[in-house]
Order: sequence, then structure tokens, then C-alpha cells
Amino acid sequence: MPSHTFARVEKKKLPLDDEMQFIRSWIEKPLSTGAVMPSSKALARTMVRYVDPQSSGPVIELGPGTGPVTEALVRHGVDPKRLLLVEFNPDFCRLLRKRYPAATVVQGDAYRLRRLLGALVREPAAAVVSGLPLVTKPLRTRLRLIADAMSLLAPGAPFVQFTYAMVPPIPKALSGIKAEASELIWLNLPPARVWVYRGR
Ligand SMILES: C[S@@+](CC[C@H](N)C(=O)[O-])C[C@H]1O[C@@H](n2cnc3c(N)ncnc32)[C@H](O)[C@@H]1O
Repeated sequence: MPSHTFARVEKKKLPLDDEMQFIRSWIEKPLSTGAVMPSSKALARTMVRYVDPQSSGPVIELGPGTGPVTEALVRHGVDPKRLLLVEFNPDFCRLLRKRYPAATVVQGDAYRLRRLLGALVREPAAAVVSGLPLVTKPLRTRLRLIADAMSLLAPGAPFVQFTYAMVPPIPKALSGIKAEASELIWLNLPPARVWVYRGR
């Protein structure tokens, strides 16, 4: 293809489907994207199973990416108006705002959760559902994240996190926190497990 033709195609910015957009993000920022493909429906469904759609308060999603878990939350019965989506990647934020106009999309660093959402969360949150690639972060960052999340959540409300790792993404023996794990979700690339943390 002559170079001027290529330049024209590039300039027109052909819409990429979710997988392509995700792969591009992974190529550009592998560590913060944390996965080559968006989560499967099976994994997303397992995550949202821990969220009570009848509960009150916002449902906070961290690292929604192209939105497979967001979609599962909505299908699970969570009113999109209750969704507070925190995503670092501005392209994903644009896509999410278009797809979920009633949700609140915050572009920012989810590892600074209290600073980022302190003023936005006016009642205790019903759940924090995270797709962040936690294991790429030092333990102290992960511990600060869960402490921040617990301070925003209603008593006993879940912090839900998936991982491809064999070990829990946040140690399960933290004082004041109860942890449980799902079965391994084979229908995901790679297979993943969901961990749920709740304040005692
Ligand atoms: C493993 S992907 C998961 C995406 C989606 N939840 C899914 O299950 O397909 C991680 C997502 O977290 C986002 N992310 C990474 N670091 C972040 C940060 N510090 N703050 C907010 N989002 C972040 C990435 O841009 C990406 O969308």
C-alpha cells in the first residue's frame, strides 16, 4: 500500500471493535492494561454475582476497560445511574461514556481512590468491582487500595477482584477483612478466579 494511502486510513481512524481497541491498549501499555483480551462473559457474570442489585448506594467499577463487567452489572439489574466507573485510559473512557450515558465515568488513577472519589461518593457504596491488574503493583499499593475501598463501602459490602494468579491478589488474612474465592473460571483467556473481600 503506498504510504499516502496508509496515512489516509490512519487519519480517518476506523472504528475498532472492543477486542482490537483492547489489544492496542495492551501493546501500548501492557502493564497497566494487564490483559490481552477483555474479560469473557463467564468471568464478568461470576464477578457481578457478588453484587446485590437491590442494595442502595453507588456501585464502583475500577478499570472497566471496554466494559464487559459493566455490561454484566447492568444485565444483573444494576441501574446504570448508580455506576461510578473509574478508568485510566481516555479512549476507554470515551467509549464508556458513549455506551453508558447515565453512568458517571471518572478518568483517573484508581489507586488514589479516596482522593479521586471522596467528594463524589455521598452515601456508602454497595460494591467495588475491580478489573485492575493488581498483581503488577507493590503490596503496599494494593493494601492502600483495599483500605480506601473499605472506607467507601457500606459495612459488609463486597470488594470484588479477579486475578489470573494462583495466589490471592490481596492477602486473605488481613485483620478485619473476610475473603472468599470463586471456582476457577476456565472460560476466560487466561482462566481466572474471582476474590471477594468484605469488612467484618
Ligand atoms: C485487565 S484490564 C480489565 C478491563 C475490563 N474490566 C475487563 O474485565 O475486560 C485492566 C483495566 O484497568 C485499567 N487501569 C489500569 N490501571 C488503572 C488505574 N491506575 N486506574 C484506573 N484504571 C486503570 C486499564 O486501562 C484497563 O482498562
